[in-house]
Amino acid sequence: MVPRHVAYIMDGNGRWAARRGLPRSAGYKEGLKAMLRVLKATEAKGADTATVYAFSAENVARPAEERTEIMRVVKEWCDCFAGEWKVSFIGDLSLLPHDVAESAARLEERSASSRGLHLVIALGYGGREDIVRAANTAAKQGEITRESLESALSTHSLPPLDLIVRSGGEKRLSGFMLYEAAYSELVFLDKLWPDMTEEDVEEAFSEFARRTRKFGA
Ligand code: IPE
Ligand code: IPE
Ligand code: MG
Repeated sequence: MVPRHVAYIMDGNGRWAARRGLPRSAGYKEGLKAMLRVLKATEAKGADTATVYAFSAENVARPAEERTEIMRVVKEWCDCFAGEWKVSFIGDLSLLPHDVAESAARLEERSASSRGLHLVIALGYGGREDIVRAANTAAKQGEITRESLESALSTHSLPPLDLIVRSGGEKRLSGFMLYEAAYSELVFLDKLWPDMTEEDVEEAFSEFARRTRKFGA
């Protein structure tokens, strides 16, 4: 079985740079290259949707210098992207600098009819915030049900989340897709994100294929 929707928690960029005596910004630049490698391999292996956790709601608390560097990498990529992927964003874009949010919105608009991989970028995203926001929306329509809550989540139009891969050695979700992860398979890799290769994607997909999914039944 090939996962239809895969998510990547792209952790370990700062440590990658620190281990080389480089500024953390070097880790984010290299992390972007790794993201493109991983996404190409993900598409080639047959997934149709990939979500990447690029900047969490809590990452807003990072030092200003680091935030600026991450946002610079994000904006540059959004402005230059000319590939075949349909790119969309989840998260609170108002947590980002205005020009970055605008670049993201423009990319979403101009890639809307692309037919390749659907790439979802989580920026200023927090799973708890998304659930609270969705609950408020659903409550306005009456009693909150699973259906009404799910249809108000920012991920409502995406396929079920089959697989979450986290690099960087930590074994936690850090606020990512807390509702959607209910029955996702989890793969944790010790590798730092900038070191991720096509082979790591291959290995994660093979691991997924070996799992028996039961959904409680
Ligand atoms: C992933 O990398 C998070 C972001 C891109 C904000 P980190 O910056 O958390 O890297 P480590 O975990 O400190 O190495
Ligand atoms: C999770 O990594 C967020 C992203 C990868 C964007 P963090 O580095 O922020 O997570 P914690 O703080 O180690 O849990
Ligand atoms: Mg980290």
